[in-house]
Amino acid sequence: MAEPLKVLVTGAAGQIAYSLIFNIAKGDVFGKDQALILVLLDIAPMMSVLDGVVMEIQDCAIPLVKQVIATDKEDVAFQSIDVAILVGSMPRREGMERKDLLQANVKIFKSQGSALDKFAKKTVKVLVVGNPANTNCLIAMKSAPSIPKENFFCLTRLDHNRARAQLALRLGVPSNDVKNVIIWGNHSSTQYPDVNHATVKCDGKEMSVSAAIKDDNWLKNDFIQIIQQRGAAVIKARKLSSAMSAAKAISDHMKDIWFGTPEGEWVSMGVISDGNAYNIPDGLIYSFPVKIKNKTWNIVECLSINDFSCEKMKTTATELVEERDTASEFLTSA
Ligand code: NAI
Repeated sequence: MAEPLKVLVTGAAGQIAYSLIFNIAKGDVFGKDQALILVLLDIAPMMSVLDGVVMEIQDCAIPLVKQVIATDKEDVAFQSIDVAILVGSMPRREGMERKDLLQANVKIFKSQGSALDKFAKKTVKVLVVGNPANTNCLIAMKSAPSIPKENFFCLTRLDHNRARAQLALRLGVPSNDVKNVIIWGNHSSTQYPDVNHATVKCDGKEMSVSAAIKDDNWLKNDFIQIIQQRGAAVIKARKLSSAMSAAKAISDHMKDIWFGTPEGEWVSMGVISDGNAYNIPDGLIYSFPVKIKNKTWNIVECLSINDFSCEKMKTTATELVEERDTASEFLTSA
């Protein structure tokens, strides 16, 4: 069996972590022969809840799990880790402005970025889930200058999976027969789910999604809104935000980093923009279509972009620039 991989999950007493830790522990993410040391970080008031989670991990009796470390201390949590999945963040409370939420989270992700810089392996892969995920990721990245920028990701795989599933439902095909949807931009309601390059297998024949759906009006309006508003729809129904599907998306994302994307397919991930691809401003964490090989990602370039897409991609980039600028103000005054 390979040397244990040290995997940190923050927000470990929360609802996403409750599903995620099980997926990781049973080998669905890093492989069925990959031993694991699970490191679980939450805040001090949640330590008794976290004790219960640790008991349940033990009770699963999973042989891959060699050790579980539960802590409320960042210097313990980030020590020599190979993977950091940063789920824990300050939730948005009623009446809270987006700015207040950003301010609270800048503090958390600045501190965790510094801890990554000081204590983690330089090869650590960092996936930020806690919202606002793109900007939190940017803050963590900026606070960890000794770790390559390419090692930082934010989660837009849930949006990607939602887009795939909605198209599959509409066409009555399995979701894995729908390929190459794209989520552009921010993990927020300005994100742009793009089906212009997506394909689907219908009756054994591969065709473009728009040819299969045959309803451009639905694709340009209802479909986009369903994906943009899906998180809010789940909260309305469940009175809690997406957790099982978020954990599945995190697992899909990390698994693709570890083992690569399938031949001929791309996935959506929030990664650093260098200003070249698709005219997205330099230095934003923006969701692009990416392919991964040998744990290295590349943006899928040169896809044709029509005027409709171009507008939508700009709108979500503008929102990210605003978030970045607000966060920078808080960072310099913190
Ligand atoms: P939750 O409220 O059930 O759990 C969050 C946990 O984080 C709590 O146990 C809390 O104590 C902990 N926490 C807060 N500050 C912390 C800190 N500084 N260090 C470590 N732990 C800390 O929330 P849930 O449902 O698990 O969601 C977590 C985050 O994920 C939220 O920000 C949510 O908006 C976001 N999310 C992002 C998605 C995406 O696609 N990017 C999808 C779904 C949720």
